[in-house]
Amino acid sequence: AGVFTYDPGFTSTASCDSTITYIDGEKGELLHRGYPIDQLAEKSHFLEVCYLLLYGELPTAAQLEDFEERVTRHTMLHEQMMYLFRGYRRDAHPMAIMVGVVGALSAFYHDSTDISDPWQREVASIRMIAKMPTIAAMAFKYTLGQPFVYPRNDLDYASNFMRMCFAVPAEDYEVNPILSRAMDRIFTLHADHEQNASTSTVRLASSSGANPFACIAAGIACLWGPAHGGANQACLEMLREIGSVERIPEYIARAKDKDDDFRLMGFGHRVYKNFDPRAKVMKQSADEVLELLGIEDNPTLQVAKALEKAALEDDYFVEKKLFPNVDFYSGIILEAMGFPTSMFTPIFAVSRTIGWISQWKEMISDPQLKIGRPRQLYHGETLRDYVDIENR
Ligand code: CMC
Repeated sequence: AGVFTYDPGFTSTASCDSTITYIDGEKGELLHRGYPIDQLAEKSHFLEVCYLLLYGELPTAAQLEDFEERVTRHTMLHEQMMYLFRGYRRDAHPMAIMVGVVGALSAFYHDSTDISDPWQREVASIRMIAKMPTIAAMAFKYTLGQPFVYPRNDLDYASNFMRMCFAVPAEDYEVNPILSRAMDRIFTLHADHEQNASTSTVRLASSSGANPFACIAAGIACLWGPAHGGANQACLEMLREIGSVERIPEYIARAKDKDDDFRLMGFGHRVYKNFDPRAKVMKQSADEVLELLGIEDNPTLQVAKALEKAALEDDYFVEKKLFPNVDFYSGIILEAMGFPTSMFTPIFAVSRTIGWISQWKEMISDPQLKIGRPRQLYHGETLRDYVDIENR
C-alpha cells in the first residue's frame, strides 16, 4: 500500500541538501564550494582542494601547513595490515584488494569509529585521505610481486604516491615534477562530483550509522563498475581492442546499433550535456604529458585522437550529446605514465576519497539525519497460501 514516486536511476530525485559541490550540466559548470574546477586545477593543488571540500573555505598558509602535516602524519599503515595484502592471490585486481583493506581499517583504528564524537570523525577523515595512496600503491606492488614501498613524508602527496608505485628498489625513484603535477591534477579533477553513484552509496551506507571506513569500502565497491569509475580502465582496453584507426568506423557503428550492447567507453555523462569541464583540463594535461614523454605516436593514443574526432562529428553522438568525459583523457595520461589499466580505477578511488569523506561528514553532522530507506513499486504475486512440497 502507499503511493510512491517512481524514479529509476534517480534522474529527478534530490537525495540530500548539500553545500559542497555544484554542477550545471547544461553550462558544463562544476564548482567546489563556489570555486570553478578549472581555476582549482590550474592554481590550486589536491591537498588544498581537500581542505576546501572538507572545511568549506580555502585555507590560509598556516592552516594549509597544519593540514598537510596532519595528513602526512597518518600515511603509514599498521604493519599488521601487510598480512591482509598477503592473503590475496597475486593476480587479484587492486580494487578487490582495496575494498577489503579499506573495510578492514576499522579493525585497526578503534579510536576513529565512534561517529558521535567530532574528534573521532576528524581523525577518521584525515586517516582516510592519508592512507588511501598507501593502500592503492601497496595493492599495486603486491600484484607486481615487488616489495612494498613505504611512504616518504618529505614528498608532496602526488610525488609520494608515484614513488610508492614506481620505486624499485625503494631508493632509486627520481621525482619528475611535471608528472607529479599531472598526477596531482588527476586527483584534483576527480575529487568530488556531488551525488554520483559511489557518493550516494557512501551516504546510504552511513545513514545507518556504520563506521566511516566501512562506508568508504562500500563507495569503492560501487566505483569499480564500468559505468562509473571502471570506465577509465574499460576505455583504454577498448582503445587497444580497436587497435588501428581503420577499425574506428566499425566500433562507431556498433555503439550506434541498438541490438548491440557495446558503448563507446569514456563517452557520455548523466549530468553534463554539453561538455565535461574536467575533460577540457584533462585533455590539456594529456597533451603536456605526452609531449614531455615524447610518445605522441603511441598507437593507442592515435586511435584515441581519431576516435574522439570521429565521434564528435557523428550525428548520433552529436544528437545524444555524447562527448568524451574525464575518463577518456585520464586513461591516456595514466597509460603514458606507465600505469597498467588495472590501476586506473584505484587512482580514481584515491582521488574521490575526499569527496566521499566530505559528503559523509556533512551528512552525519546534520541533526535531521534519517536512515536512507527507499520504497518500491511491487509487481510480484499477491497473497497466496503455502503449498506442501508433495503437492507442488
Ligand atoms: N556510447 C553509445 N551510446 C551511448 C553512450 C555511449 N558511451 N552513452 C549513452 N549512450 C546512448 C544510450 O544508448 C541512450 O540511447 P537511447 O536514448 O537511444 O536509448 C542515450 O545515449 C542516453 O544514455 P543513458 O544510458 O540513458 O544515459 P545515462 O545518463 O543513464 O548514462 C553513462 C550515462 C555515463 C552511464 C553512459 O553515457 C555510459 O554508459 N557511458 C560509457 C561509460 C562511461 O564512460 N562512464 C564514465 C562516466 S564519467 C565518470 C564517472 O561518472 O565515473
